[in-house]
Amino acid sequence: MTRIAERTVWVRKFLRHGTKIASLTPSSRWLCGAMCRDVDPTRPQAIVELGTGTGPLTQMVLERMHPESTFLSIEVDPDLHAIASARCPKADIANASVENLPDLLAERDIEHIDVCLSCLPIPSLPQKVNKVVFETWKRMNTTGTFTQITQVPWWYQTLYRRVFREVKFELVMMNPPPGGVYHCSHIYEDFFETHRLPGKQL
Ligand SMILES: C[S@@+](CC[C@H](N)C(=O)[O-])C[C@H]1O[C@@H](n2cnc3c(N)ncnc32)[C@H](O)[C@@H]1O
Repeated sequence: MTRIAERTVWVRKFLRHGTKIASLTPSSRWLCGAMCRDVDPTRPQAIVELGTGTGPLTQMVLERMHPESTFLSIEVDPDLHAIASARCPKADIANASVENLPDLLAERDIEHIDVCLSCLPIPSLPQKVNKVVFETWKRMNTTGTFTQITQVPWWYQTLYRRVFREVKFELVMMNPPPGGVYHCSHIYEDFFETHRLPGKQL
């Protein structure tokens, strides 16, 4: 599929399911580069991408990661999943919702995540979906960085600060529109008891 055809599918999806797609365009190489900060080519890691879209970040991770790294990407939309799978035929891309994250990891014997690259529209997802994501992260990594993409610079800083003790925002001006990455670490141990979960209460 040509890039123009890909963009057409993307725009159609955005117009139909705006908050689920949550971005006007697929991520640029600058935004993907900022997302890949903790992808280390010198050592094997377990890397998980949440929300593959058409696969620009998936492709960059494949190019940058150590050859013995384990990499799972998850995309709920079947059309976007098909585009990403054609673009990255060697990637393990599950056509599923992140609600199934624990099962998808267990099926692949992944017991620890080194790098989580979240492209999910966390603020507009149901709280129960976010609960699965953050619970899984807490269970599988308490020291690494949970990397969250955004196309609304700084806007959700408070939201991620409710979940993580440390949140550093990296601005990416070159992305059209300017976006950035929240590098989040040290999830609150008692988060689920004391903090309101991000997302929609359904
Ligand atoms: C902002 S786009 C990012 C796409 C791509 N990673 C990029 O950087 O261009 C977010 C993606 O998350 C997907 N998504 C939304 N809710 C999801 C869910 N519950 N499970 C899996 N993917 C989901 C959307 O379909 C969309 O493709």
